[in-house]
Parts: sequence; C-alpha cells; structure tokens
Amino acid sequence: MKAQFTLNGEGHAADVSDETLLSDYLRDTLGLTGTHIGCDTSQCGACNVLVDGAPVKSCTLLVVTLDGASITTIEGLGQPDALHPMQAAFRRAHALQCGFCTPGMVMAGIGIARRHGPEVDDETIRHELEGNLCRCTGYQNIVAAIREGAREMER
Ligand code: FES
Ligand code: FES
Repeated sequence: MKAQFTLNGEGHAADVSDETLLSDYLRDTLGLTGTHIGCDTSQCGACNVLVDGAPVKSCTLLVVTLDGASITTIEGLGQPDALHPMQAAFRRAHALQCGFCTPGMVMAGIGIARRHGPEVDDETIRHELEGNLCRCTGYQNIVAAIREGAREMER
C-alpha cells in the first residue's frame, strides 16, 4: 500500500505492507536510526517522532495511516551547527547521559513545551514524561533541560 507524507521537510512516497510500523520503516528502510526502539510494549518513548508537530510513539503507528501527515525525526529537527532549542538545552543541561532515550526525550520535551508554554513547571514536566523511560534514573537533568528548552522555544 502507498502513503504520501512529508518527512523532515521533504515529500516522501512510501510503498509498504499494511502492517509496517513507522519505527521499523524509518530505521530499516530509510536508515534514519536516530529513532530508537527501546521496548516492545510501547512504554519507553525512545521511538518518539513528531507527527504534525506533536510527539507520537512511532512504534504504535502504521505507515499507511500517515497519508498527508508531516513527520519530523531527530535527523530533521536541527543540525550540528544549528540545533533546535530543545536539543541545545539538552546539551547545556547535561541531559544526554545515555543517548539512547535522548531522541525520544527531546521530542517529548518539544511536545511539553508546545502544550504548556515557557512557564511549565517541573512537576508538570515529570508528569508528562511518564511515557518516556530513563532507565539510568537520570531524570533530573532531563527535566531541567525541558524547562530551559521550553523557555528558549518561546524566544
Ligand atoms: Fe516505542 Fe518503546 S519502542 S515505546
Ligand atoms: Fe537515557 Fe537515562 S538518560 S536512559
């Protein structure tokens, strides 16, 4: 089956079986391995991408349902010399302990910032991160990065 959508700012036509998951398609077919797969129970959030600007677990999405959507992966979010404000905040706040959960955390952070604005508090951030697992228990700096990133995104 075919689906046409925008991927990292460019038009894309996918021709896939109707059970192909977006996470597998991104990684295995397109080589966009910045989207990680950290579980098989849709709990970890490492696979988050932005769909029409909102973070979604790509392991829960069938490619064929994405016709007309706009998808952004971590590869399309910023560039090394022009990071997205949320990426820059993660770097500044030392929120990159493992690197494995990081792309999904950045995407979740963008969603939190867009929903709650620049004054979002730590309690709200922690609550909203319940769909993103940090297995090394390093949430402290991740929360700080999202708080800072939300303020920077507003500028
Ligand atoms: Fe999608 Fe874990 S791989 S939630
Ligand atoms: Fe990635 Fe903790 S920082 S699992």
